[in-house]
Amino acid sequence: PVIYGITPTYARPVQKAELTRMSHTLRLVRNFHWIIVEDAETPSSLVTNLLKCTFMNYTHLAAPTPASWKRKLKEPKWKKPRGVSQRNAAIRWLRQNKNRDTDRGIVYFADDDNTYSLNVFEEMRSISKVGVWPVGLVGGLMVEKPLLDSVTGRVIGWNSHWRPEREFAIDMAGFAVNLQHLLSNPNAEFSFNVERGFQESALLSQLVKIEELEPKADNCTKVYVWHTRTEEPYLGDEKALRSKGQRSDENIEV
Ligand code: UGA
Ligand code: MN
Repeated sequence: PVIYGITPTYARPVQKAELTRMSHTLRLVRNFHWIIVEDAETPSSLVTNLLKCTFMNYTHLAAPTPASWKRKLKEPKWKKPRGVSQRNAAIRWLRQNKNRDTDRGIVYFADDDNTYSLNVFEEMRSISKVGVWPVGLVGGLMVEKPLLDSVTGRVIGWNSHWRPEREFAIDMAGFAVNLQHLLSNPNAEFSFNVERGFQESALLSQLVKIEELEPKADNCTKVYVWHTRTEEPYLGDEKALRSKGQRSDENIEV
């Protein structure tokens, strides 16, 4: 199957660095198709040029977050969900361009700031509905992971401490969905009308029951993806320059 990696991305000082690093991982994944969705009205030249130089299979879309759901300046990050409009645009693209009966694929929601081992992509190729695995450095823990029944080997819960009552207490990076299964559920998508931090649960509850989940990564004993976050760079001097009508990145893309 082809792995469709869906990546929301937005303009910020570290964007090109994040996407460069990520593309260098993704270029090593065989049979990979990158669906990169900018949080913008139209595709930017920065992302367009970066994609052209990657030699990858990709689809480049733009889908802006509605103004009312955009993070305000100084507003804490966790107040509003991120990536919702972008992931839905990619899901709709798959629905319009892929055939449920003939196209074999796996859909993975791969944020632009995480750290991916190549192993995570190999693990997901065998998923028939939804596969799950541990995610490192997330939810206030070293690792969040599915808990398996020692006899049946099926998922029976989660080790999460943050909102452990979530039906699927798992980060976006910790699951992938078979394309045919996604296409068989034509209304399944992300929504702004769910409680903060419940994006994953809201989507997954439309796709599977907990006992149907397929544990990957050696029965969820290995960490192949990390929820890393990049520190915001200090740009105080750049600001000072700009207030004088100058900038350090005149005629040079950073
Ligand atoms: C956590 C989860 O790992 C995300 O998958 C989930 O979307 C998010 O919480 C949430 O609750 O909405 P976190 O690291 O806090 O993630 O989120 P970001 O990495 O900042 O954003 C997730 C994705 O959306 C990234 O690919 C980012 O580039 C993109 N994004 C972020 C936008 O497209 N627009 C924005 O304004 C912000
Ligand atoms: Mn992130």
